[in-house]
Amino acid sequence: MQRRFAGEQRASELPSPSGFTLHMMRERQIPWWERGVIYQIYPRSFQDSNDDGIGDLAGIEARLDYVAALGVDAIWLSPIYPSPMADFGYDVADYCDIDPIFGDLEAFDRLIAAVHARGLKLLLDFVPNHTSDRHPWFIESRSSRDNPKRDWYIWRDPAPGGGVPNNWISDFGGSSWEWDEATGQYYLHAFLKEQPDLNWRNPEVRAAMSDVLHFWLGRGVDGFRIDVLWHIVKHQAFPDNPLNPDWTPDVTERDRLLQHFSTDQPEAHEISAEMRALAEDYGERLLVGEIFLPAERHARWYGTPERPQVHLPFNFHLIESPWDAAHLRAVIEDYEASLPGFGWPNWVIGSHDAPRIAARIGEAQARVAAMLLLTLRGTPTLYEGDELGIGHVTIPPERMRDPQHFRQPSLNIGRDRSRTPMPWDASPHAGFSTCEPWLPLNDDWPTRNVAAQERDPGSMLNFYRHLLALRRAHPALSVGSFTMEKAEGDVLSYVRQHEGERLRVLLNLGPEPVQPLTRQAESVRDVLASTLQARPYDGTLLPDEGLILSLAPEA
Ligand code: GLC
Repeated sequence: MQRRFAGEQRASELPSPSGFTLHMMRERQIPWWERGVIYQIYPRSFQDSNDDGIGDLAGIEARLDYVAALGVDAIWLSPIYPSPMADFGYDVADYCDIDPIFGDLEAFDRLIAAVHARGLKLLLDFVPNHTSDRHPWFIESRSSRDNPKRDWYIWRDPAPGGGVPNNWISDFGGSSWEWDEATGQYYLHAFLKEQPDLNWRNPEVRAAMSDVLHFWLGRGVDGFRIDVLWHIVKHQAFPDNPLNPDWTPDVTERDRLLQHFSTDQPEAHEISAEMRALAEDYGERLLVGEIFLPAERHARWYGTPERPQVHLPFNFHLIESPWDAAHLRAVIEDYEASLPGFGWPNWVIGSHDAPRIAARIGEAQARVAAMLLLTLRGTPTLYEGDELGIGHVTIPPERMRDPQHFRQPSLNIGRDRSRTPMPWDASPHAGFSTCEPWLPLNDDWPTRNVAAQERDPGSMLNFYRHLLALRRAHPALSVGSFTMEKAEGDVLSYVRQHEGERLRVLLNLGPEPVQPLTRQAESVRDVLASTLQARPYDGTLLPDEGLILSLAPEA
């Protein structure tokens, strides 16, 4: 019988806590994702194969050799399901099919076979918090108050004096409540009004969504990135959220309130554990949860050894941190300290939602960021195009598409700049398409493209490939221990160690040379990687220089 979220208890099937520890010590095999690197593909912008200016599954398949040669282990695809594209696929109208823009189920089966044939894994984006308002479930739900699917979504009467049921604010700005004239109630939407929130307290919703996971796991996917997982259950009494005392009008309206009652509810953790139990039935499948929370609450999404939740609650702390050695050191130490003993770390520096790392900190520091990402303890996720160092992109107003921008235009938080098509070569439309792409290319695409960077040994692409190859060749960089070293001005320094191999990572976060680092010069055997031109190590770090050094074994 297939496992359903509301069904059997997983805990009783697991060994006792002490048994689990012994098992971990004696037999623990390192799962693929602990050594592995995840590469996020934004399907609309990877490769167009059918001349409509929008990327698709056959396009991704045609570019798989590039992904394999990069040296990553798994691909995560942003949503590819049928969708009206109000939020570019994060508004799902059918969880078990493919949007015709991207292809069909046959194209998907071809893609997954081609991914597996190259020894890669494929993760899909599971969007459980909300559907599209065009999903047949919601169309039924809003058709009448006594429709059997009414309770699949979150409907509420107006507040006693009239108006919205409470003060909750959508993440994209404005009230989270939308009035439905026909049935005289409001429905809840944490994002756009075209994205009504599902009611995960309803067992039928849980059963339907577990069927969705079975559908894709049965088709061979290796796991899921779970969209806004911490949002999926709301407080049963729908109290007002408290005001955020630190809010200022120059940040998003969402942050005016603390999302105390609308997110991170205990019942959501229970569902996360049920998702994990379901995935476990299929063997080594990976669940990555999108979780934006402070370190301590974030760590709770690992669950416990007896009742584990997602394998990797996505860790966005690098994206949010000011880019200097002191802040980064604190972020890394606080995160490491927050992890439960059995919890495997992970790191992210870019995504389809965040500003491009090279736009934020400049290309020289983007190399330092790449070295940091690929040498910290934990699974890294790379975002397509960051390996080319794509930075500032100009999107003329008439070509802007992101709904987040249109909801709050004055804040300049549109995500289109991170979603521009992959520039493959210098041919018209950068080899991405035969026609004008849905979003403009990066301004410098004639020179900043894959083909040009493949030819240039010093390019960002070849730097990423080198780092990824090093990570594969030196287990100290993936599964080794991590020791942060003493603070030294703009320098971040740490040691990774595994079975006698010791590697020191030295990163200069500043624009000044740093010298001397004599204490550290003594034991250096070799320079394995540099963000700048290779040179023998002399105990100094140039501006923006990052180094991976191989050290002599400890005396
Ligand atoms: C996640 C997605 C983002 C989307 C939102 C609503 O944060 O990453 O792109 O807009 O969820 O689904």
